[in-house]
Amino acid sequence: EASQQNLNLRRQAKKCFQLAGLPVRGLGNARQQTPAQGGTREDDMADLDDIKDGKDWGRDRPADTSRFFLKGNAHHDWGMKARLSQVFRPDTGRTVMLAFDHGYFQGPTTGLERLDLTIAPLAAHADVLMCTRGGLRSSIPPEALKPVVLRCSAGNSILTELSNELVSVEIDDAIRLGASAMAAQVYIGAEYEHKSIANVVKLIDAGTRYGIPTMAVTGVGKAMVRDARYFGLATRIAAEIGAQFVKSYYVDDGFERITLGCPVPIVIAGGKKLPEREALEMAYRAIDQGAAGVDMGRNVFQSTDPVAMLAALAAVVHEGRTGAEGYELFQDLHGKAAA
Ligand code: R5P
Repeated sequence: EASQQNLNLRRQAKKCFQLAGLPVRGLGNARQQTPAQGGTREDDMADLDDIKDGKDWGRDRPADTSRFFLKGNAHHDWGMKARLSQVFRPDTGRTVMLAFDHGYFQGPTTGLERLDLTIAPLAAHADVLMCTRGGLRSSIPPEALKPVVLRCSAGNSILTELSNELVSVEIDDAIRLGASAMAAQVYIGAEYEHKSIANVVKLIDAGTRYGIPTMAVTGVGKAMVRDARYFGLATRIAAEIGAQFVKSYYVDDGFERITLGCPVPIVIAGGKKLPEREALEMAYRAIDQGAAGVDMGRNVFQSTDPVAMLAALAAVVHEGRTGAEGYELFQDLHGKAAA
C-alpha cells in the first residue's frame, strides 16, 4: 500500500511539474521497481570503484545567490534564513566570528583563563560569538546582544581520542539560549568518524525542525593530514549531510577547490597563533578564494591587541582590504582601545 501511495505521489508531482512546464527528469521513474520488488540494487548503492578527483570546478560560473544571499541556502524556511542572516551580514554575505569554545576539551588555555575578563569585553567587536553553553551562561552578559553559534558537542579532552564526541546540548536548550546556530565536529577519517557524523546529523535534524542552522566543523585529529584533499572531502560531506554552513582550516595549496566543491558557505578557523600580519594575510587569501568569513579564536584572543585584531579582520572580511592593509589598520589601532 505504501509503495502504491509512493507511486501516486510521484505521478501527481510529475503532473504538477508538467503543468508548470518544469522538467520532470529529477522525479525518478514512477514505474521503477524497488529492490524488494525485484529491481536491481546497483542504482541505489554508493560505488567505491572508480573514484576520480574532481576537475571541472566552474571557477568562472559562481553559484546562484539571487534568491538568498548565502549560497546553497535558498530553499530553507524563513526562520532558518533569518538566523543565517544573524550569523552572516546580509550586506556583505560574510562574518567575523569570535571562537572561544576551546575550553570544552582544552581547559583554561592561554587567553581563556577568565572568559568574563578577556572575552566579554570583545563581544561588541565581533559579528558573532562561538562558544559553549557553559561559557556563555557563566561569563557573557546577555546584554551583549550578539548572535551565538553554540558548540553542541563534547565528550573528549586533549588527553583522549578527540573524535569520540557526543551531542552535548539538547535542542530545547539551544532555543532557550536564543542560539542563531549550533555547531559540532565531523571527524572524517578518524577513529570515531561515524559517530561524529551521526552527532552532526542529529543536530541538523533537530535544527531543521525549529529553523536553527547547523555549522559542521571539520575537525582534525592529532595525526591527520591537513591538505586540500582532506578538507575538500570533509567539507563536502558536511554539506551533503545537510549542514547549512561549514568550518574548515585554510590550506595554502588548493583552498579554492575546497570552497568551490562545497555548496554551502565556508568559514575558516584560525588555528595556532600566528604573527598578526600572517593571520590577516591568511584571512585575506581565504576570502579571496571563496570563504564567507572567519571563525577565529587564538589569533584574536592571544593577540597583543584583540580589539584591533577584530577591527582589522572586519576590514579584510567585509571591506575587501588586503592582508597588508588589514595589518596597517591593526598597527594604527594597536593600543588605542586600552589607552
Ligand atoms: C576547535 O575545535 C574549536 O571549535 C575552535 O573554536 C576553532 O578551532 C577555532 O579556533 P582557532 O581559531 O583558535 O583555531
